[in-house]
Amino acid sequence: MKLKAGIIGCGSIAKFRHAPEYKANPYIDEIVFYDRNPERAEILADQFAGSVAASLDDLITDPTIDIISDCSSNEFHPINSVKALLAGKHVLCEKPIALTIEGAEQIVQAQKTSSKKLMIDHNQRFTRAHQKARQLIENKELGEVLTFKTSFGHAGPERWGINKTKSTWFFSKERSGLGVAGDLGIHKIDLLHYLLNDGINQVSAFQGSLDKTGITGEPIEVCDNLVCTLKTAGGRIGTASFSWTYYGEEDNSTIIYLTGGIIKIYHDKDYPLLVIEKDGSIAKYQLETIQTNDDQTNSGVIDSFVDSVLHNKKPAVTGEDALVSLKVLLGIVKAAETATVVQVNQSTAKLETKNV
Ligand SMILES: NC(=O)c1ccc[n+]([C@@H]2O[C@H](COP(=O)([O-])OP(=O)(O)OC[C@H]3O[C@@H](n4cnc5c(N)ncnc54)[C@H](O)[C@@H]3O)[C@@H](O)[C@H]2O)c1
Repeated sequence: MKLKAGIIGCGSIAKFRHAPEYKANPYIDEIVFYDRNPERAEILADQFAGSVAASLDDLITDPTIDIISDCSSNEFHPINSVKALLAGKHVLCEKPIALTIEGAEQIVQAQKTSSKKLMIDHNQRFTRAHQKARQLIENKELGEVLTFKTSFGHAGPERWGINKTKSTWFFSKERSGLGVAGDLGIHKIDLLHYLLNDGINQVSAFQGSLDKTGITGEPIEVCDNLVCTLKTAGGRIGTASFSWTYYGEEDNSTIIYLTGGIIKIYHDKDYPLLVIEKDGSIAKYQLETIQTNDDQTNSGVIDSFVDSVLHNKKPAVTGEDALVSLKVLLGIVKAAETATVVQVNQSTAKLETKNV
């Protein structure tokens, strides 16, 4: 059986991940592109031998399209993904699922109403080093997790997005909403939930617009750096740093400290996973490296979503998973804005991450 995919939003994530990964998937026979800037859709249709939809309605009401990737900017996810789900399409929505709890809940509700598949692109769960680390933690091979630190930083979205200037939507409060926290931080919150299978429920944080300036020359209106401390329901404590000002080299690393040793992920260029036992002995795993802005490899996300549609399986990252992570992230931003410790209300969504 072959499926047809549609993509809303033909910027960088569509160009570097969704389109090439649909193109490489043997069960996808065509990609239809839509962007509110039609030229961008034309360019990707040419590059990936697909076609162009003239409007959002044309795309989501096309009866031959089975799957839609929502690669629009953050503020449009609740509009586009809800419309696509209610039009009967399976939806792979980019992160963050939304900028507000209400927006995320609208998407989750639309999935329930339509009974179509919904997955959110929290792609950190799909790398081999993260999967191996989760397995080691789940099997208690190094005992219990005590504490952790994680970091995600690069030189900034004005080098990544399709608009490579200071007027990028990533710098706009109204459009990106949460700055580097919504761009990179949400990935690490989801990753911690996945690795620990334990929900973060207390947070404190500092944020700042330290170096990026907008078109007026003033500091940008969203944070370009955020550093936070996190406590899980299971009592683990740790730190996370998110940055758009790590110039020269990306950092996507995580360290988990357990009663029986240490797991280091993406610290060593040659060995993406290091497992250090209590006695100092080190096991080095030569697993594939993680994608960086300058080195795009297959994330596995599209293949996983297509597989869940074809075989009627629960998607690897559900709307509910993404809602839990968004609640934590909004708690972190509130903690930074109010200089307080914030309790995260997880009552409406239970954390139960699944193995990918
Ligand atoms: N999973 C990841 O690792 C990852 C990485 C980067 C970006 N993203 C996410 O992907 C989404 C897109 O980011 P990007 O980097 O491709 O940005 P981008 O600016 O490069 O591209 C966004 C595109 O969407 C189009 N667009 C915006 N709103 C639209 C609408 N309502 N209808 C149709 N087209 C619309 C724009 O014209 C633009 O071409 C964002 O939500 C972002 O957070 C995810």
